[in-house]
Amino acid sequence: MKKVLALILAATMALGLAACAVPAAAPAAAPAAEAEAEAPAAEAPAAGGDLVGVAMPTKDLQRWNQDGENMKAQLEAAGYQVDLQYGANDIATQVSQIENMIANGCKVLVIASIDGDSLGTVLAQAKEAGIPVIAYDRLIMNSDAVSYYATFDNWLVGTKQGEFIRDALDLDNAGDKTYNIEFITGDPGDNNINFFFDGAMSILQPYLDAGTLVCPSGQVEKAVVATANWATDAAQSRFENILAANYADGTPLDAVLASNDSTALGVENALAASYENDVYPVITGQDCDIAIMKNLIEGRQAMSVFKDTRTLAEKTVAMVDALMKGSEPPVNDTSTYDNGTGIIPSYLCEPVACTVDNYEELLIESGYYTMDQIQ
Ligand code: BGC
Repeated sequence: MKKVLALILAATMALGLAACAVPAAAPAAAPAAEAEAEAPAAEAPAAGGDLVGVAMPTKDLQRWNQDGENMKAQLEAAGYQVDLQYGANDIATQVSQIENMIANGCKVLVIASIDGDSLGTVLAQAKEAGIPVIAYDRLIMNSDAVSYYATFDNWLVGTKQGEFIRDALDLDNAGDKTYNIEFITGDPGDNNINFFFDGAMSILQPYLDAGTLVCPSGQVEKAVVATANWATDAAQSRFENILAANYADGTPLDAVLASNDSTALGVENALAASYENDVYPVITGQDCDIAIMKNLIEGRQAMSVFKDTRTLAEKTVAMVDALMKGSEPPVNDTSTYDNGTGIIPSYLCEPVACTVDNYEELLIESGYYTMDQIQ
């Protein structure tokens, strides 16, 4: 009994520590693709805690490095061992990493999927082995092995972007004036784009219908404006084509709805290369990636959506801990996210719109970045 009490005490203290010990920001540059796999579980601290598998999609985008590091640090502070893997945006790699996690005896799996629809078979093995699965940030679709979902309010991300464009262009007072807009969203295998894009369109569609917003390229459908792997270079080349075909004669581009920063950056690169017009578009984004902060501060990207990944890690660690201890994981939404097998109980963290006016408070004063990192 004493031993059990001591263990509970140690775990509580460790959790307390986890709550205060918020790790610093991500590395500035993404390491090379071949370095995707983290140290194997065998090298995790010999604390003897249960093993948690954490599968992240890629090291190419800053946020996943940050998410992975936050999760690892907070889980270790809570007394667990961590097998952290990055899937190099390759579905087969992620599947085999998860197979290894199951074989290595992980007691809980936390997975940010590369393609939400491709994990059914491997997760059936997890279910068979009695291992609970937490979908992290991106919902895993069509698998009844998913127990919980920890993410941000993705619909709110989209509506914040749409509202920002509406207000920046003052669309409600446009009268007969029309504004040109183009669209870009992320990977079609990422269920989040259905919330980001549809959320934004719930705000913007009425203005398209009324003719206040006009899309000169005609590329408005989600499937048409999607970007494989959320890749910056793909976004850039699509926008180079759009600019050449529709704006080379001096037609102004007033706004670009970009679902996140990696795609917004591609748009900004294309504009820098070939847009010559005094009207610079209102461009949205998401993540407050270090790579776009200079553009945000200097006015080339009007807004981003800040998602404090420290909070997401904290909530996910609380879920893991509850599952390990047989108690109820924290959730605050039981109606929104149906993965095709039913509603997945979710914890939705709150996203915040970030502009040049509040970035210091959101990012610097909160210790998320240092000024040196973003300048
Ligand atoms: C995340 C975004 C991120 C995007 C690309 C989405 O699933 O929610 O924060 O920008 O993936 O990595």
